[in-house]
Amino acid sequence: MDAGLKTISIGMLGAGVVGSQVARLLQSDRQELSDRSGALLVLKKVGVRTNTAREGIDASLITTDLHSIVTDPEINIVVEVLGGIEPARTLILEAIKNKKSVITANKALLATHGHELFNAADAAKVDLYYEAAVAGAIPIIRSMRESLAGDQITRVMGIVNGTTNYILTKMHEEGREFAEVLREAQELGFAEADPTADIGGHDAAAKAALLASLAFHSTVTIDEVYCEGITSISIDDVNAAKSMGCIIKLLAIAELTVKDEISVRVHPVILPNSHPLASVRNAFNAVYVESEAAGELMFYGRGAGGAPTASAILGDLVAVTRHRAYSTVGYGESDYADLDIAPMGEVKSQFFVRLQVADKSGVLASIAQTFASEDISIQTVRQSGLGKDAELVVVTHAASESSLTACIEKLTAMEIVSKVESVIRVEGAVS
Ligand code: HSE
Repeated sequence: MDAGLKTISIGMLGAGVVGSQVARLLQSDRQELSDRSGALLVLKKVGVRTNTAREGIDASLITTDLHSIVTDPEINIVVEVLGGIEPARTLILEAIKNKKSVITANKALLATHGHELFNAADAAKVDLYYEAAVAGAIPIIRSMRESLAGDQITRVMGIVNGTTNYILTKMHEEGREFAEVLREAQELGFAEADPTADIGGHDAAAKAALLASLAFHSTVTIDEVYCEGITSISIDDVNAAKSMGCIIKLLAIAELTVKDEISVRVHPVILPNSHPLASVRNAFNAVYVESEAAGELMFYGRGAGGAPTASAILGDLVAVTRHRAYSTVGYGESDYADLDIAPMGEVKSQFFVRLQVADKSGVLASIAQTFASEDISIQTVRQSGLGKDAELVVVTHAASESSLTACIEKLTAMEIVSKVESVIRVEGAVS
């Protein structure tokens, strides 16, 4: 049945957790993958930085000469799973120059140099596919790029980092402190030894840039994403949200503003338990898309790990192989709309403000007056605590970031305010 089928040779850059799963599945599912793509798929070379043996990969395929993969005239498709900016950028550009299609899982690279790489792929008439770069196994890129190509997306909200979702889930469900759960996540191998990119929100920010670019047909880079991580979220914040029937999640948000600009940001959000994203627990990811015709859609699944990420890469591999076999290319970058990024100060949200105040007459009136002085309308106020100090939790109606920042400065300077403990944005109908 293979007679007459074209052979498509693959070179892989990197053979870590994801790369070794890609190699394993390419070998074990070779027949099905070939049947589905209309060509014989052959793994020809695997480039690694140190020449150690890789379990399950034939030693004769392994080379430390990464450059030899992107220049090999027999290789048709390069799969890049090295991560990081360099040498991945240079190698991908070289591969494209040599007319190879490229599949990458590298969100940091695409969120920084995507425009350059997509332009190069366009000029060379080759594919540059990246399903695995956002939310692992979840088929969100192809859904946005192809299935929703006829609709107008208005907002995308995603839980796109499993480590932070795991930490926030454990804090919410088990009442444990951030630092303790982070330690546990590291011991279990979820969180990296250096978890900065996850807990600081930078991993999610790269994914937010890619989602915003796709949703709004514009080039958005990671530098344009406002980013706050979860390091300042305390168990008191989690419990206060819980008592309001809500949960705290780290969200990547990309939305179209009333001025037709893109607001793109990553920060913790208080969500009502009734919101579909509120039920996404542990290390799972989900992306919630709102569009004019389709309405609300939610995509849920595993956002990391060797086999789930390999599944996304192999899906791209089948698509790209079909294109190679039939001498065509798929969708490229669509940046025709070229929308501006909305300044963060103009972005409007509801806010949760938790503060310690003196417990005496007139305090509530003064606090309310301070919010009013910045034209911020209060939706609810809750007071707890007995004695000298009371804790107030104020939820505002939608207000701009700049008004809220000015209000917090004024509150902090007030004698009756001992401390503004936290300010967290609120999404959805919170009462
Ligand atoms: N470290 C990420 C996470 C996976 O925890 O979801 C890779 O982007």
